[in-house]
Amino acid sequence: MTDQAPVAYTGPARVLSGVQPSGALHLGNYLGALVKFTRLQHEIDTFIFVADLHAITVWQDPAALAQQTREIAAAYIASGLDPDKATIFPQSAVREHAELSWIFNCVARLGWLDRMTQFKEKSGKHKERSSVGLYTYPVLQAADILVYKATHVPVGEDQKQHLELTRDIAGKFNHDFNAPGFFPIPDPLIQGPGARVMSLRDGSAKMSKSDPSDYSRINLTDTADDIAAKVKKARTDPEPLPETIEELATRAEADNLVGIFAALAGKTKAEVLAEYAGKGFGTFKPALAELAVESLAPVGERMRGLLGDPAVLDAILAKGAEKAREAAAPTLAEVKKLVGFWGA
Ligand code: TRP
Repeated sequence: MTDQAPVAYTGPARVLSGVQPSGALHLGNYLGALVKFTRLQHEIDTFIFVADLHAITVWQDPAALAQQTREIAAAYIASGLDPDKATIFPQSAVREHAELSWIFNCVARLGWLDRMTQFKEKSGKHKERSSVGLYTYPVLQAADILVYKATHVPVGEDQKQHLELTRDIAGKFNHDFNAPGFFPIPDPLIQGPGARVMSLRDGSAKMSKSDPSDYSRINLTDTADDIAAKVKKARTDPEPLPETIEELATRAEADNLVGIFAALAGKTKAEVLAEYAGKGFGTFKPALAELAVESLAPVGERMRGLLGDPAVLDAILAKGAEKAREAAAPTLAEVKKLVGFWGA
């Protein structure tokens, strides 16, 4: 066999991403994912789903799962995703994800999956008791992306390795089934380090839904009073804010709060410092609290409104799922033909 250079994909640009319905969303998800999705929908054809198939790789209460899915969808829309612009849907409502995932299970190599660090972290010491789904999780993720022939995938730094696996699967499929350029080799759109939101209690840990302290994070459903209280209680140091980014970088908590301010205000950290250098947290925190309440309280309010009328939300998801199926079905039909299945 001769090794030929891979043929470039020539289809249209398309964005795809998803969030698992396995816990409440917080400021980190909002700035790192939701705001980004909202911006992209104006530039590229955008598909954003709720990753409920991924969620069940660890136990989910069946009585709660559908509502958790609605909550993520409500957060998407409350953050500005427009169902008339972006395609918003639950993953499990589009069976093509699972079907393509099986075929990809037969393309991906055990050695590739054995290298996945997230599986190692999540399975911990008792790998043999993890679900098989947790192990093949990144293969399903590749199917999510490639069933829509998505070219750009906005994700956090922690998903970079899964994106590399997706690229490997796309390349091997194109090669093995003699279909040059059939699947795109998608590019991750990784958030810059500045967009990483850290815990309000510990500037060296990521803001996380699993942190036992609720004061470590601002949840999207927090009330205005909660948001203000959490900002005011955030851990800081006694020094006033510095003049330069370099000095700020040595003070994790101060850096985090300035970063949050900058992201919410649509400014750079340098611009925030230009305004607040020399001022103490007694001045900065109330300003940040006001800005955070102003930006986030309406998101929570809209979420509660949407969740108060599940019929409307469910209709949006049903319509999104239909649009998603229309996009996914032709890819799967072509894949089945390439693989050589009967009747394809
Ligand atoms: N694994 C992603 C996360 O935990 C969620 C996800 C599933 C995803 N499928 C995807 C993200 C496809 C981007 C594209 O964040």
